[in-house]
Amino acid sequence: MSEIVQVARKYAQSIQVLYDARGIHGRHRVNRIARGGRHMSVSVRIASSIRRSDALNLAPDIALEAGCQNVMGVVTPDLPDHVTYQFQLPGYIDQETGLSHGMWMTYTGKDVTGLGVGLADNRREVQFKFSPPHAGVFGSTGSGKSETVRRILTSLTKTYSPDELGLILCDPDHDFDDSFTGLDHLLAPIAHMPDEIERNLTFGVNILLQRREQNLRGKNKPKQRVLVVLDETAAILEHSREIAEGALMMIGAEGLKYGIHLLISTQKPVGDEFKRFMHHILNRWVGLVDKALTSVHLTGRGGMHCHQLTGYGDLMHVAALVEERVLIALVDEKELDILPRGNPARIETPPAVLTPDRVINAAADVDDRGPGRPSVEIEPELVAEYFRGPNVTENEARERLDLKRRAHEVHRAWAVKLMKAFAAVGVMPVAIQPLARYLVADARGQEVSGLVGTALEPMYKSYARQLGLEIQRVLKEGI
Ligand SMILES: Nc1ncnc2c1ncn2[C@@H]1O[C@H](COP(=O)(O)OP(=O)(O)OP(=O)(O)O)[C@@H](O)[C@H]1O
Ligand SMILES: [Mg+2]
Repeated sequence: MSEIVQVARKYAQSIQVLYDARGIHGRHRVNRIARGGRHMSVSVRIASSIRRSDALNLAPDIALEAGCQNVMGVVTPDLPDHVTYQFQLPGYIDQETGLSHGMWMTYTGKDVTGLGVGLADNRREVQFKFSPPHAGVFGSTGSGKSETVRRILTSLTKTYSPDELGLILCDPDHDFDDSFTGLDHLLAPIAHMPDEIERNLTFGVNILLQRREQNLRGKNKPKQRVLVVLDETAAILEHSREIAEGALMMIGAEGLKYGIHLLISTQKPVGDEFKRFMHHILNRWVGLVDKALTSVHLTGRGGMHCHQLTGYGDLMHVAALVEERVLIALVDEKELDILPRGNPARIETPPAVLTPDRVINAAADVDDRGPGRPSVEIEPELVAEYFRGPNVTENEARERLDLKRRAHEVHRAWAVKLMKAFAAVGVMPVAIQPLARYLVADARGQEVSGLVGTALEPMYKSYARQLGLEIQRVLKEGI
């Protein structure tokens, strides 16, 4: 008898022992045994649904009886009248070599085809789909998030041509450089630093806005899907809150219509900064987490037990009616070698059209079900303060202007927008302060006190009007 069959028999027996001891009688029987990458699933048909939770709660005792490190009791959608016990197989991963030992498997690109990203029980291939439209990969450090994202991107770029799929990558940890630099699918260079990341996210939103302006939806939808990827999303939100949050809300709410999708990863998307868009991220891949409550938060449902996974690419995939445990297939170097790269027609250049304010403002347009934050009142005089020196720091804004961080960022964003518009029509710097006041005050239906009734007033007003037109153009076409 092979080792695996012996193990399966032992597991099935220990279930029977516990059922007998706890008086779970009736026509319960082991109906299916399936092998996963690091666990064995033993499914028991439960004769009476009343005993289902009793049966689920027996998992830790069964583990003890079987001499197994961990047993997860779950109900899977494919076997709804069964309780499935997932017995963790004996094994480990050598941290030095990354190789698996004992009865643990490692899957690679050779084990999957096309859009396959990993294998579930009985080597059933689990594929990445753009449905639900936006995906998230979560889990504690070392749970395999970056590897999962790398696998998803590899499978996608193997399957779709650059005409069918464009990528925008934000990668603060440089996890993707070796794999994807120079790829023909990239619509912009891989972004690492906050300013590069803001540029890439803005670019993604610009594509959406362009497609929206041209009404490229429904049967007019462009052939090329765009996937915007954020690894370490919490770090990105920390450094670029306005733009990242705006982009995630905008693409989350409207991306699907225009063929623009999100793939984000982070350890724990639970703070305030995630609240406004997480309800759009419903294609979830959750690895090992710290506790049961985190599992509930991240999967959005109970009973998934992600705190009992083995880590290193052992994930729960949760999406609409899908709940499956999958071991992600590592990416082979050979798979990366055959990806299309270096097409001279696609030489990487930063995208030219950049209007970050549109991202910030766009977020305000989004029909958003999240709890929201109060919007910041824009004070024209304060905007004008930002024209004095090239850089008002956050500290200075707090001390001198009494502005909190978000207010500071919004005012600065307005100032940048105006400054660019001014430069574009060649206005002298000395005129900028009062003009800025006119413009912003006019937008809010207010009077500017300083010049009222003086000979300069009509001149400034006329300049301000010209600049207003220019700014409208900027908002429409970019700088
Ligand atoms: N599918 C897998 N199969 C085997 N080993 C894996 C798999 N995925 C990840 N690992 C192992 O786990 C290590 C950590 O994975 P990864 O860097 O993807 O984690 P992470 O969740 O991104 O962590 P962090 O939050 O620290 O960035 C990898 O170096 C690799 O050795
Ligand atoms: Mg990582």
